[in-house]
Amino acid sequence: MRTVNSLRELRTILRGYRREGKTIGLVPTMGNLHEGHISLVRKAGEAADVVVTSIFVNPMQFGASEDLDSYPRTLEDDQRQLEAAGNTLVFAPGVEEIYPQGLVQQTKVVVPEVSDGHCGASRPGHFEGVATVVTMLLNMVQPDIAVFGEKDFQQLAVIRKLVRDLMIPVEVIGAPTVRETDGLAKSSRNGYLNESERAIAPAVYRALQDSADKLGNGRSDFGAIEREATEALSAAGLRPDYFNIVNSDTLKPATAEDTELTILVAAFLGTTRLIDNLSVSR
Ligand code: PAJ
Repeated sequence: MRTVNSLRELRTILRGYRREGKTIGLVPTMGNLHEGHISLVRKAGEAADVVVTSIFVNPMQFGASEDLDSYPRTLEDDQRQLEAAGNTLVFAPGVEEIYPQGLVQQTKVVVPEVSDGHCGASRPGHFEGVATVVTMLLNMVQPDIAVFGEKDFQQLAVIRKLVRDLMIPVEVIGAPTVRETDGLAKSSRNGYLNESERAIAPAVYRALQDSADKLGNGRSDFGAIEREATEALSAAGLRPDYFNIVNSDTLKPATAEDTELTILVAAFLGTTRLIDNLSVSR
């Protein structure tokens, strides 16, 4: 497995693969890889001959008060895991390679509607940063397929829309959320939790399951279900940011007629912000 830092090297190597008639899969990440990321790499390997994993902590998607500087950077460990998962090529550029003119001068990609609300409301500019860097990565690698986790449900919806709207010739594949045995969704940010916070954290998935049961039992009083879940999260020691039951396609508030629902949650545990979601068909 090779690691390259420059776009030039990346393009040279990819040209070779394309000449050999190989299909290319892309897995964009910010590194500090765990089994969730690795499941994406394996899925990409099932759908394409060559898997490129990018590792880039994208400054454009972090707010001024967020964890850009402290975000864990663990390239060597990431490389070991990727090698074991059968990844072909790692693209690990520096910030200057991606944003040579700086963030202010950079052309940006804005994805209306699906970027609004939920994480978009709590993290202004976040999805603009995600949409911009993902568009650039898709242009740099020009993959046949790209794999993203359902763990970041709104992000996946933003990416599906930008690919459609900008007519980018790539198939976007969603991959299910990988969890710890107690239900906590695997996340690089789980490493920020201290022991007592880690013990509280599974309450997020329990609140999702509890609400999914209520929806499955035919309840459509969404506001009441959201309030009950918010109270349960607070009682467990979390600070809920939002708990929203939405239409899975539009991410707009659910109506009683919707058959595909998704519950989106974000909550703080100390200074760590956890997100998760669960979909329900009915
Ligand atoms: P990052 O948080 O590193 O996640 C990279 C990919 O892994 C995303 O598609 C995310 O949804 C997926 N992922 C994370 N945890 C997962 C889990 N427990 N189960 C399944 N998939 C999981 O998301 C980003 O980076 C960035 O926003 C990025 C798309 C790379 C753009 O900078």
